[in-house]
Amino acid sequence: MPTFKLDGREIPFEKGETVIQAAHRAGIDIPHYCWHPGLSVAANCRMCLVEVMPPPGRPAMLLNVLAYDPKTKQYIDQQKPKLQPACQQAASEGLEVKSESSKHVEKARAAVQEMLLLNHPVDCPICDQAGECRLQDYWLEHQHTSKRMRDEPVHKPKAEVFGPTIVYDAERCIVCTRCVRFSEEVALDPVLSVRERGNVNEIVVSPGRQLDHDYTLMTEHVCPVGALTSVDFRFKARVWFLRTARTVCQECSTGCNAHMDYDPRNNTVYRHRPRENMEVNKYWMCDQGMLDYRRVHEDRVLDARIGGETVKVGTALDRAAELLRGVEPGKLAVLLSGQHSMEDNFAALELATKPLGVVQVFSTGRPAGKSDKILKNADKNSNTAGVLSITAPKKPLNFAALASAIQSGAVTHVLALGSGIEDPALASALGKLAVLVVIGSWNGPLAQAAHVLLPAASWAESDGLFMNAKGMVQESEKAIEPLGQARPAWKLVAALGVRLGAPVPYKSLDELRAAMSGGSPKSKRPSLSGAAQ
Ligand code: SF4
Ligand code: SF4
Ligand code: FES
Repeated sequence: MPTFKLDGREIPFEKGETVIQAAHRAGIDIPHYCWHPGLSVAANCRMCLVEVMPPPGRPAMLLNVLAYDPKTKQYIDQQKPKLQPACQQAASEGLEVKSESSKHVEKARAAVQEMLLLNHPVDCPICDQAGECRLQDYWLEHQHTSKRMRDEPVHKPKAEVFGPTIVYDAERCIVCTRCVRFSEEVALDPVLSVRERGNVNEIVVSPGRQLDHDYTLMTEHVCPVGALTSVDFRFKARVWFLRTARTVCQECSTGCNAHMDYDPRNNTVYRHRPRENMEVNKYWMCDQGMLDYRRVHEDRVLDARIGGETVKVGTALDRAAELLRGVEPGKLAVLLSGQHSMEDNFAALELATKPLGVVQVFSTGRPAGKSDKILKNADKNSNTAGVLSITAPKKPLNFAALASAIQSGAVTHVLALGSGIEDPALASALGKLAVLVVIGSWNGPLAQAAHVLLPAASWAESDGLFMNAKGMVQESEKAIEPLGQARPAWKLVAALGVRLGAPVPYKSLDELRAAMSGGSPKSKRPSLSGAAQ
């Protein structure tokens, strides 16, 4: 691989890469606002300026400048190197670049910082970006001086509603155009643009439009400062109190990698952010996925219920075992779920098919929805492929087939995992069942019809593996402690197995995963392609 020198260190690069790209890959941060690895180069913020040394025998590119001499109180002619934006400077073999090691660069970065903050309101205490704002970070790293301008700063629109999800503060905006380029290049909807020039410029929404495409929250995410804020997250939490877990989005079968930010002090999830995975979602998530975290706290099944009455989990497990014990295997069916992890589905299938002798395997999930050519998959279940891989070579039948088996009397007892069903209209069939035991996380047709309902932990409350539409098995980490009486579904299945006199041979997640991969209980987890980075 060819290399160039950055502050004396050899940096390998690939053909066509810029200095900032190669440095970024090598783990070196060249300060930047407008550059984003997933967007085109705008080179407008000038924070990434570096000094490019002339090749041997060539004169340096110099700028004539007027410098103030405090001794003579005169402006004098001077020359200084013409600095280049690292985000636009192509890397080339033998190039020598100075970043941290150049006094000129140090001065330029401080000047850029000072200019960006000239008209800035510096309302950090009430800004949602505080704690993760580049203006704050780079002031500390590259400026360190107090404001010299004594004039009234330029005032611009504040708290402007751009659409249902985003609020804009033009005074905080550094007009880096990341949001503009994201909308145009990734969301394929050029709904944002820059109006005016100089210190009165601002971002505007196209006339007659709102910022309302399917990826609006990404504009807030790519904004390096607090100019774009999310209606959902505004004033809800201080980011320094949040911890993060590496999760997988549950809203569709793309399986975008996410960071789930939660506050351990109140066991509450506050937001989702994309987690870079070039094979799955690159740097992005859709709005539906970004807001998916809210389901963790909405419409949950948090108690065990028998016939709608709240009971202790142990009591519900006893009753479920009583209802399922001795049922003719031909009349009993298991309903798996594309909304549950591979572990949950595997455990339910093992219990149903081995000790209970079930032969009728069905699977369900949420109904299909919108898809696009960017990320969104029409299958709104995170683990449809995982269920298929667990039941292979057999294919589980869908809910319509289960409904007709119930109507015909072929199935009278069901052990069901999950909450959503493909066609809510078919839910009426559930009322005809003699016994329906449901292990689910959310209220819905299944939970409503259940004779015994067991509260399952959501994906935020347990570790789990999910196979996306590309067949990649990805791990989603536990963020918060299980809510209410909820427990991981596989643990509820194991407890049911004990009561049915058929204890499952795994007591931990590692043992369960080993069983799934056909290994001994002590063998390692299955290999995770596209796993958490
Ligand atoms: S709103 Fe944010 S992302 Fe958009 S131009 Fe301003 S600073 Fe950049
Ligand atoms: S595309 Fe699918 S997996 Fe990705 S964020 Fe959106 S809903 Fe979630
Ligand atoms: S990051 Fe290079 S000019 Fe903005």
